[in-house]
Amino acid sequence: MSPSAPAAVSDRQRHVEDDLLHTVLASFRNTADPRLKELMESLVRHLHGFIRETRLTEDEWQRAVDFLTAAGHITTDHRQEFVLLSDVLGASMQTININHDATAGGTEATVVGPFFVEGSPEIPRGGDMAGGASGEPCWVEGTVTDTDGNPVPGARLEVWEADDDGFYDVQYEEGQLAGRAHLFTDEQGAYTFWGLTPTPYPIPHDGPVGELLAKTGRSPLRASHLHFMATAPGLRTLITHIFVEGDELLSSDAVFGVKESLVKKFERFTAGTPAPDGRELSGGSWSRVRFDIVLQPSQG
Ligand code: BEZ
Ligand code: FE
Repeated sequence: MSPSAPAAVSDRQRHVEDDLLHTVLASFRNTADPRLKELMESLVRHLHGFIRETRLTEDEWQRAVDFLTAAGHITTDHRQEFVLLSDVLGASMQTININHDATAGGTEATVVGPFFVEGSPEIPRGGDMAGGASGEPCWVEGTVTDTDGNPVPGARLEVWEADDDGFYDVQYEEGQLAGRAHLFTDEQGAYTFWGLTPTPYPIPHDGPVGELLAKTGRSPLRASHLHFMATAPGLRTLITHIFVEGDELLSSDAVFGVKESLVKKFERFTAGTPAPDGRELSGGSWSRVRFDIVLQPSQG
């Protein structure tokens, strides 16, 4: 008996459905690339399994097609609805899990999100990546080492985050450059910079993915975070973020990006407390966090 067809389906009906599945599978028999063949066959098996298990109606199939069409229409160079869909279905995180073994000893990876852009300004160590973005200043410090504990001098760190209104620079129509920068570790593999204390914000939810979240009673909010991309010769590029200990959204992040090891204590200081580098903070509160990054060896 086919595992995909429910018991209520007659033998004759089951035969018809099995026949079609096998015909479609056989249509890939001449695929030259064995990996493509494996992927297409598995995709067809799972897709037919889904259609048969749910006894999908023609109306539901049409609505799925309409949904994908709407996702295509809203997608531009600056808005990628299909990646958002992958994110909210946990497909992005599951692909990351499979490709970044949690037991391999490096810092854990998480989703890149749609707001990384090339061409961030370089800042010196101790510089300010906020670049005018609003929010509470946050002193970020740490090291980059390899999995043997050796410091990695000259590692490149790209950092980016939303302002305290919940927007990345690229989401403003005026096209500003703020809340992103890159810097390099020193001879001891250490780095410091000023960023912003992360605050929660919603993923773009004015399109079909937002509608799906609303219809399924899910929130578009992401747990507060600060993005990092670390690169160094001979080591595997790491894309990750750090999250804020105590944030109530940690357990309901819209894209399932939170990992326990990435949740960090952001120590808060009241106005007037001297900053680590003596910076004049014009009287406001500030925070401080440590994030030590461990990079795995390059693959292959
Ligand atoms: C982000 O963190 O920037 C993000 C990640 C996934 C979807 C939307 C935004
Ligand atoms: Fe983000």
